[in-house]
Amino acid sequence: MDNFEEQGKGGEGVSRRGLLGAAITGGAGAALAPLLGNRAAAAVPASSPSAPPASSAAGMTLHVNGQAHWVEIEPRVTLVDALRDHLGMYGTKKGCDHGQCGACTVLINGVRVNSCLTLAAMHTNEEITTIEGLADGDRLHPVQEAFIEHDGFQCGYCTPGQICSAVGLIHEGHTKTDDQIREGMAGNICRCGAYSNIVDAVKKAMKVS
Ligand code: FES
Ligand code: FES
Repeated sequence: MDNFEEQGKGGEGVSRRGLLGAAITGGAGAALAPLLGNRAAAAVPASSPSAPPASSAAGMTLHVNGQAHWVEIEPRVTLVDALRDHLGMYGTKKGCDHGQCGACTVLINGVRVNSCLTLAAMHTNEEITTIEGLADGDRLHPVQEAFIEHDGFQCGYCTPGQICSAVGLIHEGHTKTDDQIREGMAGNICRCGAYSNIVDAVKKAMKVS
């Protein structure tokens, strides 16, 4: 029995099962907040300018998980920030914000993309899929099922990006071996080191997809 399970049974902590389910479906943000440090607070500037510059926000429609969303955002807003801060889709995680960790991976027209490296305004005519859009109602996506079956995560922070990346990798159709899976998933960092289980999960999902 691990610490997560012990906490859950005590009724005061967060159960491992609850955390994992939330991570898989994209709802891990609130549950994992205590584990993520005070990232948001650290990003707040010490002082704000007394007269903020005039907003250059523009209205646009983003098509996310099969639904059209009207947003008013500045052209400089990245896709990950649009998803999280303007659409309230916190399943997509923000790690490095520099294209180096893969936590923010989403699918754009089926192709995996680091959403911190692209502007939302560039994707108004494209179909964006996030971790929240992979399941079919109560039925998890085969990659989500495989991650659960093979325990492909621990804290779950990297998991939405890992799963979106795996969906894109499988769709690309050129990955066959464990080494190719490792290479194909190399852009998605897991600080918990769940790599071998992630490879097993992707391999399983490849067979059933
Ligand atoms: Fe986008 Fe790290 S947050 S790659
Ligand atoms: Fe914790 Fe990957 S499961 S960072």
